[in-house]
Amino acid sequence: MSSRSVVLILDFGSQYTQLIARRIRELKVYCEIHPYNISLEQIRLMNPRALVLSGGPSSVYEAGAPLVSKELFELGLPTLGICYGVQLMAKLLGGSVQPADKREYGRAHVKVNDAGARSPLFHGLHAGEELAVWMSHGDRLEAVPAGFTLIGETPNAPHSAVADEKRRLYGIQFHPEVAHTPRGGEILSNFLFRVCDLAPTWTMANFAEEAEVHIRSQVGEKGRVILGLSGGVDSSVAAKLLLNAIGERLTCIFVDNGLLRQGERAGVESLFAGAFKADLHVVDAEERFLAKLAGVTDPEQKRKIIGREFIAVFDEEAKRIDGVEFLAQGTLYPDVIESVSHKGPSATIKSHHNVGGLPETMKLKLVEPLRELFKDEVRELGAELGLPRPVLWRQPFPGPGLAVRILGEVTKERCDILRLADAIIDEEIRAAGLYESIWQSFGVLLPVKSVGVMGDLRTYADALALRAVHSKDGMTADWVPLPYELLGTISRRIVNEVRGINRVVYDITSKPPGTIEWE
Ligand code: XMP
Repeated sequence: MSSRSVVLILDFGSQYTQLIARRIRELKVYCEIHPYNISLEQIRLMNPRALVLSGGPSSVYEAGAPLVSKELFELGLPTLGICYGVQLMAKLLGGSVQPADKREYGRAHVKVNDAGARSPLFHGLHAGEELAVWMSHGDRLEAVPAGFTLIGETPNAPHSAVADEKRRLYGIQFHPEVAHTPRGGEILSNFLFRVCDLAPTWTMANFAEEAEVHIRSQVGEKGRVILGLSGGVDSSVAAKLLLNAIGERLTCIFVDNGLLRQGERAGVESLFAGAFKADLHVVDAEERFLAKLAGVTDPEQKRKIIGREFIAVFDEEAKRIDGVEFLAQGTLYPDVIESVSHKGPSATIKSHHNVGGLPETMKLKLVEPLRELFKDEVRELGAELGLPRPVLWRQPFPGPGLAVRILGEVTKERCDILRLADAIIDEEIRAAGLYESIWQSFGVLLPVKSVGVMGDLRTYADALALRAVHSKDGMTADWVPLPYELLGTISRRIVNEVRGINRVVYDITSKPPGTIEWE
């Protein structure tokens, strides 16, 4: 059986839409998010097995509220409307939705009634049971459409859960996808496996097999592919997948820009050229990058120079490889959703981070084998493909590398100083068992000299700022209260072992207002 029984999630703009997708995939069912205004024809072409209508910030009666055609409900597909999704379903099918007297945000309890206890959606719940749920709506269902029955209620929203068992149309006012609805997973699972009769076949082993077949059909019998390996999770997993699919027809290019951390290049070489026997081209471009960065202190300038230089180096190397038609990239699903979202590509601060972006002038066809996956799925796939844990759980490292952690001018000497300090931080954070629970931990070399004393000698050297943050996606972050003892060890070791640094300070700024990187 193919692992691709698609559940289609129509996005009405809820902040939780991605979470719905993740929950469904955790249940090993493949699903995709599409904007609510995708055509019926496109939906039919995808041949989905079920629909989920997400929540959204609008009111169905508002001018410009996102609407769908009533015919959506005539496709014969089992459908689950969540929050705005159920209001829309009710409105289109002849029910009535009104602004609630009291808006319902946050925790609530939905009482399951007799019909609910019999409904496959609430399988495992009994009549009279109170379900802790997370609500977030201003409107409420006043009258359900013909054919629907009530299966659960709260004091504020008498029609909190409704069902038309015959047409397999379900609606819930609350959010089953969030952690605050503890039994939400069971409800989603009931919808998939009891209502829609799907099977949990979406596994990373299946994905890998299908992706390899797909890659082979996309690049053909002879096609050659290049891929920019950064040492990070995404490009490493993409590379291994391609390697399994087309072997030596893949060439990996690793640009050593001189701004890498200690051991990074050696790690990539030993894994890809060594263990995996990949065709790996390592470009030694340290001098070139440092020459371009000489005398530059402005952060934006540094980023631009590094971005441009990376493209130039990559392009030159690619031209040395005969017959390349394809460029592989580790694009992930959140990037794909962001660019097709009905809200339009969101203008986030991430835009300047695409240092790895390659020029369209290269005229290469894109191979993006991870574009359907979330980050945690990429890690799972990587484990399936035999990539070592330190690669899969590596903390994010910015494309411009140490250059944005060396304030002021970037020189070889200062790179070496920071590299050494960074290696100590890395070692101690790992030894404390904290590496994987921290989003990023690193040092920033400051252009600030201060006086110190070592033995009988006076020193006058640079200061290093230690930074460690917790974050879920890099968009916001909190500084980590590292244990004092660990701070002490890191500081002592850096000042003792790294010539050029005589003072360590700890950065206790969250994001916002600070950024994670200092530049
Ligand atoms: P900031 O410093 O903006 O960083 O709070 C947010 C997250 O993005 C990473 N970052 C980058 N990643 N290329 C990347 O691939 C870049 O140019 C870049 N700049 C910042 C940063 O490390 C953090 O995780």
